Amino acid sequence: MRIQVAIIGAGPAGLLLGQLLHAYGIENIILERKNRAYVLARIRAGVLEQGTVSLLEEVGVAERLHREGLIHDGIELAFGGARHRIDMKQATGGKTVTIYGQTEVTRDLMDARDRIGLKTVYEADDVTLHDFDGKRPRVRYVKDGTTHEIECDFIAGCDGFHGVSRQSVTADAIRIFERVYPFGWLGILSETPPVSEELIYANHERGFALCSMRSHTRSRYYVQCSLDDHADHWSDDKFWDELKRRLDPEAVDRLVTGPSIEKSIAPLRSFVAEPMRFGRLFLAGDAAHIVPPTGAKGLNLAASDVHYLATALRELYSEKSEAGIGSYSQRALARVWKAERFSWWMTSILHRFPDTDDFSARIQNAELNYLVSSKAATAALSENYVGLPY
Ligand code: APR
Ligand code: PHB
Repeated sequence: MRIQVAIIGAGPAGLLLGQLLHAYGIENIILERKNRAYVLARIRAGVLEQGTVSLLEEVGVAERLHREGLIHDGIELAFGGARHRIDMKQATGGKTVTIYGQTEVTRDLMDARDRIGLKTVYEADDVTLHDFDGKRPRVRYVKDGTTHEIECDFIAGCDGFHGVSRQSVTADAIRIFERVYPFGWLGILSETPPVSEELIYANHERGFALCSMRSHTRSRYYVQCSLDDHADHWSDDKFWDELKRRLDPEAVDRLVTGPSIEKSIAPLRSFVAEPMRFGRLFLAGDAAHIVPPTGAKGLNLAASDVHYLATALRELYSEKSEAGIGSYSQRALARVWKAERFSWWMTSILHRFPDTDDFSARIQNAELNYLVSSKAATAALSENYVGLPY
């Protein structure tokens, strides 16, 4: 088989790239290791920047998002026993974020891909990448015991942090920048109304907490936990008790608890691989970088990467210009590093670290007070949270 672009991975990065390329008249196939149900069962963040929403609109996949998504104008920061609202819309001259689960984005993109009949091979085993340094890259995979080979112009590695694409590059061609944080997030999903209309990010001496949501009837809550903890050590009651201890009295009063429908622990990591292009192989999304979830940037960075990549490939196919693919890595990384900085900074001011002593606790408190009282600091937080321009 021959195709213009072979995409590895049917997460948000691969699926959105597929729709964008199709819109630009570029044929593509997606190879995904898991089955559809497995991909859709992964629960991840749900805060979309305006740029991400615009890309979904561009490919005609924003109808349900506009119907069901919640527009948020601000967030709340909780510390020192009180909550403080950050009006991001006001601070950014009108920008907002949309609350809509990544799972729903993935489902909408999969449905759109099916409707137009673009090929996705689920349960593609043993995907291997070949000759991306030359002119004729190839991808091999095994499906139902039979080996297949695809010849293509380009390979897009959208296969997440543990994918095969980044691992196919020789070690001396890639440089890794990494920070692993000494704690995790224990998260639960419950069919309960959210405690507040907006997200609450809490700094507490017992550790960070986050009150988020998926809809007016479904909530997502997190508490910072230790890395060696296990979700099954946490009964629902234990989770709710711990969350309450980290919230202000008014939020505790309003909190509606109920049985969890999902409970899991996620480690926190910052990671960047440079560059993001190796000949005719491009990395995009989690395959190239990871952010801790504190800034809600993971999915949004995947979206900006594939925007740069799709635009570059359009320039190549329709204008015969290699300028876009030549600068893809540099353009993508410039935005990636700003989001890495923001996510690292949000993580550092909101969590308890093993070495958080009284001095650093006071510094965090001063930083948070400054954030909610200085127009300039509020603006800096807000413009990053709603998303920096592409
Ligand atoms: N072959 C084929 N597919 C693979 C392989 C492989 N060897 N390895 C991984 N995959 C698939 C995974 O099963 C997954 O469906 O690639 C997909 C990668 O999807 P994501 O991990 O969701 O990554 P990405 O699309 O870049 O989305 C970034 O996801 O992890 C969150 O926080 C992150 O929100 C961000 C978003
Ligand atoms: C979530 O809703 O899961 C969520 C929201 C905001 C974050 C991280 C996770 O910063």
